[in-house]
Amino acid sequence: MEFFDIMGISHRYMEILNPSTLEKIIKLGTRLKLKKGDRVIDFGCGCAEPLVLWAEEFGITGIGIDICEEFCDRARQKLDSKGLSDRIEIVCSPAADYVFEEGAFDAATCIGATFVFSGYQQTIRAMKKAVHRSGRLGIGETYWLSNQVHPEYAQKQTTTHTEAELARFTRDEGFELEYIIRASYDDWDRYISDSWYGLIRWLEENPNHPDREQVFKYFRSDQDDYLQFQRQYMGWAMYCLAPIKSHSTDSI
Ligand SMILES: C[S@@+](CC[C@H](N)C(=O)[O-])C[C@H]1O[C@@H](n2cnc3c(N)ncnc32)[C@H](O)[C@@H]1O
Repeated sequence: MEFFDIMGISHRYMEILNPSTLEKIIKLGTRLKLKKGDRVIDFGCGCAEPLVLWAEEFGITGIGIDICEEFCDRARQKLDSKGLSDRIEIVCSPAADYVFEEGAFDAATCIGATFVFSGYQQTIRAMKKAVHRSGRLGIGETYWLSNQVHPEYAQKQTTTHTEAELARFTRDEGFELEYIIRASYDDWDRYISDSWYGLIRWLEENPNHPDREQVFKYFRSDQDDYLQFQRQYMGWAMYCLAPIKSHSTDSI
């Protein structure tokens, strides 16, 4: 079984594929200053729940890009059922390969998927080309809750940074960190438990599947990882980045 098949199983019973909530995603839309007719591009859009919420709440149009065919199919079905297919387009592709019209968007987002551009700073670098001069960026990202992360876990999670580092990367790319919308422990527990629920349901429904052991091992290791390290050391937040220019080179 391929990685994306396991992702499809573990994310089967959720619409927001991140430790967040409808209210927090709408709040991000407010902070991105979304308004009727704005164009938004969302990299790693999953089942397009953020784009759907922003289309319903603010009247945006947009494009969502995701590599996973199952998520793209779910996104398109959802858009059809909500009558939003003419306003939101879904492109099934690796995000880094998608050629967008530069400067054509009012906001660009990447919620929990900065690995598609190989990291937080690289994601800002890629996304800032998509927006016009006053366009804002929205990024959902992990961060270290502590400066003393267990070395075994720190070695595994080489792309996670402290928030002070994220702020510095943001400034280096010509933006300021304008707003933080932080995931709570409840948000983490909902996201991770929804994923266990999907995996356990699949294991119950597929007692003789040839890949059952692989899925079972994935479930166990994901659960151990969360309970042993992730819950204690890793935070997650959505950041709104504003394009404020400074003449000073001050850094934190
Ligand atoms: C944690 S989920 C977030 C989904 C969505 N942003 C949300 O908040 O519901 C990460 C998403 O990145 C997608 N993804 C992984 N690698 C990708 C790539 N190279 N290009 C585009 N999407 C990718 C996955 O399929 C998945 O939908």
